[in-house]
Amino acid sequence: MNVLHIDSGILGDHSVSRRLTAALVTQIKADRPDAKVTYRDLVSERLPHLTGAQIMAPADLNGVDPALASDIRVGRQMLEEFLAADTIVVGAPMYNFSIPSQLKAWIDRLAVAGKTFRYTEAGPEGLAKGKRVIVASTRGGHYSAGPASAMDHQESYLRTIFGFFGITDVEFVRAEGLNLGADQKQFAIAEAEKTIAEGNVLRLAS
Ligand SMILES: Cc1cc2nc3c(=O)[nH]c(=O)nc-3n(C[C@H](O)[C@H](O)[C@H](O)COP(=O)(O)O)c2cc1C
Repeated sequence: MNVLHIDSGILGDHSVSRRLTAALVTQIKADRPDAKVTYRDLVSERLPHLTGAQIMAPADLNGVDPALASDIRVGRQMLEEFLAADTIVVGAPMYNFSIPSQLKAWIDRLAVAGKTFRYTEAGPEGLAKGKRVIVASTRGGHYSAGPASAMDHQESYLRTIFGFFGITDVEFVRAEGLNLGADQKQFAIAEAEKTIAEGNVLRLAS
């Protein structure tokens, strides 16, 4: 079993999503000691934004500018890791109603025609079927119910893009209201950790 563990929160040791992805991966490893975990910290690795030069570069990188070639190789490696994974654990805080730009930069390297999707006469088809995605979703406010749910471009986007890649098994472990006071923060984290500890996510990892 291959697990891909992705973190994108910029708050280091203060990051709740990092704490939750670590708990998820620990739980998965306890359930499946044979699991091979690949870890990417998208903040410390500083993956550059997608550029036209990357897209227009030839498949054979011999002769391509060394800095550009190196950048493309990192992106290709990330795509291969994604394609090789059975379960992908993603730490995704809500930033400005959406996802961190670091996480978007990673997704931009995954969205490659012929690898994760293709267009057919019947419309787009996802090519990364059969994977499981578990997202540790953190938010300062509340968006899972009520009028503010229309402002959620974080979970809705992640469900859309992974669905576009053909992944229908997308689960969210959520801690929200994290900026609404110490009590609410503690409560939200405890609830998310309880969800993980109760094994609801182990079902996904089995
Ligand atoms: C740059 C930035 C932008 C944020 N934007 C929002 C936002 O639009 N809505 C919201 O509810 N919380 C927002 N927050 C709060 C975070 O979602 C919350 O603090 C979360 O816990 C941070 O992620 P992490 O602790 O998982 O790393 C923002 C935090 C940061 C640092």
